[in-house]
Amino acid sequence: AFSRLAPRDLEGLRVVVTAGPTLEDLDPVRFLGNRSTGKMGFAVAERAAARGAQVTLIAGPVSLSTPPGARRVDVRGALSMRGALWQALGEDLRGADALIMTAAVSDYRPAEQHATKLKRTPDLASLPLVPNPDLLAEIGAARGGLADAAGADGARSPVLVGFAVETATDEGVIAYARHKLASKRVDMIVANHAADSFGRDDNRATIVTRDAADALGVLPKPALADRILDRVLQLSRTSRT
Ligand code: CTP
Ligand code: CA
Repeated sequence: AFSRLAPRDLEGLRVVVTAGPTLEDLDPVRFLGNRSTGKMGFAVAERAAARGAQVTLIAGPVSLSTPPGARRVDVRGALSMRGALWQALGEDLRGADALIMTAAVSDYRPAEQHATKLKRTPDLASLPLVPNPDLLAEIGAARGGLADAAGADGARSPVLVGFAVETATDEGVIAYARHKLASKRVDMIVANHAADSFGRDDNRATIVTRDAADALGVLPKPALADRILDRVLQLSRTSRT
């Protein structure tokens, strides 16, 4: 009965999960951030570890406790998340079998990080920003390069999963997800609506892959995490055969 409640079907799978927002510091007092709370990523890490995976959880600033069994690496801005990711995956991407990128990575950061507090005026009247690297797209491109070099069609390791939060119709959300799947060269985008996800204990998501879009309905985040991990396990088996 115990094994039925807690199947160890991910034993041997090395899973890297990113979670939470990135916060981009402007000065010692202020930052640019977003509404991510980290609940989805922590649910993925918790379920993966419970199912026997070896889990590295790269967490932006969140107030959640580390799931039992997960190795946690705390980061702050997108650049520090990038460093932790490449550390976990390795330059050759052989350090993990799957990357599940739930983090809401800030698209921009202040051009300068000031050592002293900026004053209300005139300093803060405008805020020059510079783009952050697209961490998932960089990894997708690196993996694509490796597969091409090996000449092996379908050599897709690690399995790459992105998340996309939108404010659009269901059709719009899926169209954006298909675009991100292709442009970031990943295997799966979990697409959802901002109003259904941020800060909530459940979510209404659609899993978009190359050949399908599966609307899952409203699920508690741990149940959604299990559905995602089921698909990751299938894809990782495909990549090894
Ligand atoms: N992502 C990333 N690095 C970034 C921005 C996004 O790795 N600088 C990842 C996210 O972690 C997520 C996926 O890309 O898994 C999709 O993020 P999203 O913000 O939806 O995509 P963007 O390409 O940034 O598009 P936009 O914000 O314009 O919708
Ligand atoms: Ca973005």
